[in-house]
Amino acid sequence: MKSLKIGICGWGNVATGLFNTIKLNYESIQSNGNLDIEIVVIGARRDNPKCNPGEVKIERNIFDVIDHEIDVVVELIGGVEVARELILKAIKNKKHVVTANKAVIFHHGDEIFKEAAKNGVKVLFESSVCAGTPIIKLLTEELAANKVTKIAGMLNGTSNFILSNMEEGAEFSSTLHLAQKEGYAEPDPTFDIEGTDAAHKIGILSSLAFGTSLPPEDFYIEGISKIEKIDFKYAMEIGYTIKHLAVAKFNNGIYELRAHPVLISDSSYLANLKSVRNGIEIETDLLGTLHIAGSGAGQESTASGVISDLVYLANSNESISKNKITTKKIEFIDFLDLTFKYYFCIEAEDLPGVMTSISSIFSENKVGIDSIVQKEELPDNVVPIVIITDSFNERNHRELLNNILNLDSVKNVRSIRIETD
Ligand code: HSE
Repeated sequence: MKSLKIGICGWGNVATGLFNTIKLNYESIQSNGNLDIEIVVIGARRDNPKCNPGEVKIERNIFDVIDHEIDVVVELIGGVEVARELILKAIKNKKHVVTANKAVIFHHGDEIFKEAAKNGVKVLFESSVCAGTPIIKLLTEELAANKVTKIAGMLNGTSNFILSNMEEGAEFSSTLHLAQKEGYAEPDPTFDIEGTDAAHKIGILSSLAFGTSLPPEDFYIEGISKIEKIDFKYAMEIGYTIKHLAVAKFNNGIYELRAHPVLISDSSYLANLKSVRNGIEIETDLLGTLHIAGSGAGQESTASGVISDLVYLANSNESISKNKITTKKIEFIDFLDLTFKYYFCIEAEDLPGVMTSISSIFSENKVGIDSIVQKEELPDNVVPIVIITDSFNERNHRELLNNILNLDSVKNVRSIRIETD
């Protein structure tokens, strides 16, 4: 049986979840993972009333954890700059690092992996994307023989939780509150609902799949905060639902990276993954399309991924750094040059000729309309008009949105891209 002495840095929701899971599943970790985990020390700035660490030594300065006789520092403090400092210090002190922190890997992955290689230690980060749902080791090991051409998925559990509840008629804010209570959301939930968290995750996956450096250059990120409950009703009437999708593609020499809400066919694999589930489609040359799904946030799921890294560490050759070092900078296609079909919901005053003036704006902008439907009137004499367009480019989309908003009769416009392939 292998054994690992670990120090846990952080004592919030994720860290206490790991502590409890190691205790609770101690025997299965031993029998399945051939591993005995000893928690030697915990770096906790303050006590957590929800978890009693028992006899385990507590350090109030998280950096002091590194000075203990441990093999691995498990970084669960979150955030970017202090986490970077902690990880680099642990590496320089020849400790392996396991982290669930996507933001620090996204921003400083290259520097961290380089330092790990120099010091002959490993940095493992399975839980940084999709929590415990296996994707990092899947991409780097199981799919090593494949050329990956596309990764598309819902990578933020909180967003999927909110959207699938809204699909069932719940309100945005009450569902976000519930996601926070369940421990799915980030300490600052704007990271979840404005797309940043999913962007960090797709950035990491794209770097692993395409061998490119971190962080990737700027790419288009939009969250779910502007979506209304009624958009689900209109989308479902035409065979779609709404998801937050992150996409990394390599096609005909062009790299594409983006994270934003989409209308997606309600019969597709991803559309049917509800609640806090994350789901990913991976297109490969040898295996074809691969699907993976599972819980993408929360204590248990994250603990599962962290423990998988510890099992991996204990059972692999410790003298070799696993981390791929890459300096390949790539340019992603300008988002403005991509084309999509779009869903528009235009709320306008119910005046004679309003449909005509709106459809004229589309034709003046040379945008084809696939369907246009005037929906049931809302309060204050406002009528929603739902339009599905033909494909056109993102640059024109911005111009069209401005032109629609400039119409006196228009009170509000929402548009969502339609994911077609
Ligand atoms: N806040 C994140 C999510 C946690 O909702 O997916 C897991 O990274």
